[in-house]
Amino acid sequence: MATLLIVTDDVITCKSLQMSLEQQNHLVLVSESIHGAKSITSKIDCVICEHRLSDGSGIDLITNFKPTPLILLVGQSSLQAGILAMRKGAFDCFTKPVDQTDLSKAIDRATKTYSAKVDPMIGHCEPILKLKRQVSRVAPLDKTILISGELGTGKELVAKSIHDQSKRSGLEMISINCATIPQSLIERELFGYVNEELTSVASDHAGLIESADQSSLFLDEIGELPTGAQTRLLQFLKEGKIRRVGGTDQIYVDVRLIAATQHDLLERVSKGEFRADLYYRLNIIELTCPPLRDRVDDILILAEAFLKQAKNEMVRPEIRLSDAAKAAISKYRWPGNVRELSNVVQRAVVLCEGPIIEAIDLNIQMTGPDLPKFSAGEQHHIKQSRPTMSLEDYFQYFVLSHQEQMSETELAKQLGISRKSLWERRNRLGIPKRKEALSES
Ligand SMILES: Nc1ncnc2c1ncn2[C@@H]1O[C@H](COP(=O)(O)OP(=O)(O)OP(=O)(O)O)[C@@H](O)[C@H]1O
Ligand SMILES: [Mg+2]
Repeated sequence: MATLLIVTDDVITCKSLQMSLEQQNHLVLVSESIHGAKSITSKIDCVICEHRLSDGSGIDLITNFKPTPLILLVGQSSLQAGILAMRKGAFDCFTKPVDQTDLSKAIDRATKTYSAKVDPMIGHCEPILKLKRQVSRVAPLDKTILISGELGTGKELVAKSIHDQSKRSGLEMISINCATIPQSLIERELFGYVNEELTSVASDHAGLIESADQSSLFLDEIGELPTGAQTRLLQFLKEGKIRRVGGTDQIYVDVRLIAATQHDLLERVSKGEFRADLYYRLNIIELTCPPLRDRVDDILILAEAFLKQAKNEMVRPEIRLSDAAKAAISKYRWPGNVRELSNVVQRAVVLCEGPIIEAIDLNIQMTGPDLPKFSAGEQHHIKQSRPTMSLEDYFQYFVLSHQEQMSETELAKQLGISRKSLWERRNRLGIPKRKEALSES
């Protein structure tokens, strides 16, 4: 059973659809107008909407209800509207008079697809539910957003959620981490540049802000932006236009900015490292990602989700966490937050030889009052354990220390990944193959 919303002012269509859908055990809500539909607050699984209504076009409801699927009903003479609707993300489009059997099948497909879309932001505790509510509220507003939070708390995930729930979601969000680009290059990366020595237009380069036109731009670690780039960004936020480095033309761009910081930006302002006027432009709306230690009830839920993912990736369906491992996970403070938890679980799955991940396999440093009660043997192992290694560090270590003795196929097998992933990770992490192995593949 699904909750459906029919939006039409055609009484006959409305009554016949309503009767047929109710007979199929759906709960059916009805609105005669766009305005009425927009004011509905119940959770809807699928919208079935007339194209032309007295107060506007049904196509406008696609973004309003997103990600809920919308099926548009058009007249025989409005096929063009159907094409436009599909481009704008309508789930399906039917010409009137509607074939009820086909419509029922489309509704089934729509509700199944929608319910299969899992929320990427895992968590049920109040701080994360509050954050999700805030994201849904601010996403459609098209305003600049500042996301703050410690490292690994999910700032990028929140930015992506905002973009996905906004009217810009049809285009990819462009992301850039200001801390990873050399300061001398960042202004050119963001704003583009004009090659002063060559006069040909082909030698000019558009920057990331221009590439994000009509979409959203996510600037991670915005506190690391050098002063020159801060000034240009401020100007862009004020005027909606940019000038490429070395150029004179003003270029209008329509970009929604989402920025993130793990540092207290206000403190940077007080030290004179960050422009106060830019700070106040950015933090019109500020969202905060809570640290994992403040979401204790979510820790195990997240751990199990990462475990499931890693088991699938490495085809190790038998693996599970022991009770002691669960206790250790729950009690640890997770200074690296969700990212650290994800790395720890993935690494444990890679290294786990049997079906059970024990507390010591997690290799987390238990110290101080958070140390769970382990047996003397386990305590000894924990103290002896190596400092936490990320999965990528482990991959690098494993490949470099075994590639002399193992073929690429054996390496991949030992790591529980495919040859293709091994090749991709080697490229991504810049780990060259040993010379003899080059001829092997
Ligand atoms: N609520 C969550 N549910 C599921 N996965 C999450 C959640 N929060 C974070 N993650 C995962 O944790 C990792 C870190 O998240 P993300 O990159 O969004 O955090 P961040 O705050 O931007 O981190 P950093 O400070 O390292 O840039 C990602 O792999 C992300 O998918
Ligand atoms: Mg980040």
